[in-house]
Amino acid sequence: MQSILQCMDCDRQYPVDQVAYTCITCGGLLDVQHDLHSLRQTVSHELFDRRLASLGPPHNSGVWRYRELIYPDLADDQIFTRPEGNTNLYPSPKLAAWAGLGRLWLKHEGENPTGSFKDRGMTGGVTQARLLGMQRVACASTGNTSASLASYAALAGLEGIVFFENREIALGKLAQAIAYGATCIQVSADFDRNLELVRSISEELGIYVLNSVNPFRLEGQKSILFEAIQQLGWQVPDWIVCPGGNLGNSAAFGKALHELLELGLIDRVPRVAIIQAEGANPLYRAWRKGFDDFEALQANTIATAIKIGNPVNWKKAARTLHWTEGVVEVVSDQEIMDAKARIDAQGIGCEPASACSLAGARKLAKAGVIGPDESVVGILTGNVLKDPDATINYHRNTLPGLRASWPNHLHQAEPSIAEISRILQPDEPVPV
Ligand code: F0G
Repeated sequence: MQSILQCMDCDRQYPVDQVAYTCITCGGLLDVQHDLHSLRQTVSHELFDRRLASLGPPHNSGVWRYRELIYPDLADDQIFTRPEGNTNLYPSPKLAAWAGLGRLWLKHEGENPTGSFKDRGMTGGVTQARLLGMQRVACASTGNTSASLASYAALAGLEGIVFFENREIALGKLAQAIAYGATCIQVSADFDRNLELVRSISEELGIYVLNSVNPFRLEGQKSILFEAIQQLGWQVPDWIVCPGGNLGNSAAFGKALHELLELGLIDRVPRVAIIQAEGANPLYRAWRKGFDDFEALQANTIATAIKIGNPVNWKKAARTLHWTEGVVEVVSDQEIMDAKARIDAQGIGCEPASACSLAGARKLAKAGVIGPDESVVGILTGNVLKDPDATINYHRNTLPGLRASWPNHLHQAEPSIAEISRILQPDEPVPV
């Protein structure tokens, strides 16, 4: 029941013990294909529910709980896990009302060990790196992948190498990559160019690439939806809404849902809405034109995590849209930061890119695409602590070209009871 790598375009197959990301024949993206026919006999809701009580690895991981659907043939000691996943699914009635939605849950992937969903992919990626006997792993990153790679490389005893843009990387992410001991290289180029560089250099130097072009990363990221649907008692929501950058999640979600359906673990597929920032919207543009062609662009948005103009997984994202009757929407930086302020004010918090989920769902509800009675799971991809500059500058109302619609003013005071009382009870007479 060995899994295989298979080209999504020409179906050419490769063994999983070969270093491969794209098809040698046609350049298409590869999928890890499992033997769904025999898995049908093995997997069940009960199996996965039983494992919720596991205290030890690997079944205490929100990825490896579903190991048959991630990488079936591994022994326990071949798996490198923190553990990751097990993130909360927050019912969010106040935000649902604000967004004009019937029912809304937020799946908080910022609660992963390094603060983003990337950990779910990275556990799969470093596990495969070790199986292949690789010693060095690398990625280009807008920040979160680098933090996750650095952490998981340390766990698996690999050298981690991360490339990122020398401007506009969120401080929390940079701090993590340095602290976890990766070799960090800031390059004066954007994410798209850095990804090209990493792919070429890795081929030359025999380094394993752990960007989402790596199909084993995407296998781990499928578990976001496995877990969300399990948390809903295996009931399927009407919509899954997520941000789209390099489109790894968008790719993984289609495959996850397709497999759950094939295996009889769900009886219908939710629609997937992929939300891009207005200034980084190549998928939206191509989708609007029926995918006649795909044009890369120079990206720009305050949501630096998704500042990507040439997403490597666009064909897999298009497949997800096809499989799920999905849609693509765009939101402005203003809409992103306002939605973030609403999420933050619930005491949940997220980084800017994550707020695309709520901003996009709100826009789709206004347009009548999401109906008033439909249920929505929005994915919050990263933790509020990742990008403190964006948060503080929003509340200070100092973000260029944006206004703070929901500011929480930071007060300054001398250590004086009278002065602090004026802040806390502005309309009361001040005690003397
Ligand atoms: N949200 C956050 C917080 C991210 O870090 C990313 C991607 C996305 C959304 C978009 O996800 O690429 O699967 O469409 N960050 C990558 C990185 C590119 O390098 O950390 P995607």
